[in-house]
Amino acid sequence: MMSEDSTVSCYDEHARMYDVYQSSVVPHYRDMLDMVAKACERYLKPNALIIDLGCGTGNASLAVQEKLSARIFLIDGSKEMMDIAQSKIDKAAQAGYRVADISREGWDEGLGNAEYDAVISTLVLEHLPFDRYRSVIEKCFRLLQPGGWLIATEGYAEEGSDMQEWFYEEMEDQRRGLDPKLSDFVAGLRVEKEVHYYCSKAKKAEWWKEAGFSQVNVLWQYLGIALMVGRRPLLDSSSGKQV
Ligand SMILES: C[S@@+](CC[C@H](N)C(=O)[O-])C[C@H]1O[C@@H](n2cnc3c(N)ncnc32)[C@H](O)[C@@H]1O
Repeated sequence: MMSEDSTVSCYDEHARMYDVYQSSVVPHYRDMLDMVAKACERYLKPNALIIDLGCGTGNASLAVQEKLSARIFLIDGSKEMMDIAQSKIDKAAQAGYRVADISREGWDEGLGNAEYDAVISTLVLEHLPFDRYRSVIEKCFRLLQPGGWLIATEGYAEEGSDMQEWFYEEMEDQRRGLDPKLSDFVAGLRVEKEVHYYCSKAKKAEWWKEAGFSQVNVLWQYLGIALMVGRRPLLDSSSGKQV
């Protein structure tokens, strides 16, 4: 049965091929990572403490580290992906790691309250059923310091638009340029095991706001992939209330 477990097992199985596949097949993958890193550079102070939620092989964390000094806590459901992320990222920059399924309760246990300057998440949250998505967004809100940012790239589907289909067509075109053995294996796994739950940006922005986020905005988009940011409101220093 296709489920959140089968999605994670798909990544376990092709972890070693992930970077080649992703950078040659997913349109504007590198641009997306650069934009996440730019958002971190703009919104965070040096030595920021960041969670990379669904870190995969660590590419978003690496892009962030090219722009600013940061300590990053890595979370992913796939042990194989996590091993690669840990081998790629400077040990001194790793604030810790956890292999956990974020579609289940308890993935955030012991991570503390309101300690992080940002949660970054690239191409992950679209794998969560909507009730779990909302729970994860609420948990991210609680993990962030007042003034902290959620910076997340996801796939979206907009009613009356062919952006999703167009994006997948572009992937298919780029896939033809790859070694067929590698590309057929990864593409087959993804079709067989990877689950997505798509909805509109407006719906997700509404859920982010309900979780407490302000300044919810789309910073970058390419067809069906968009980078959305939101901020946990700052506390008023005299009243201690959110402003
Ligand atoms: C498309 S990859 C993105 C990886 C990385 N963020 C990047 O941009 O390259 C999706 C990642 O999400 C992880 N993932 C998917 N569903 C998950 C879940 N329920 N819990 C934890 N990790 C999950 C997968 O293991 C995989 O590493």
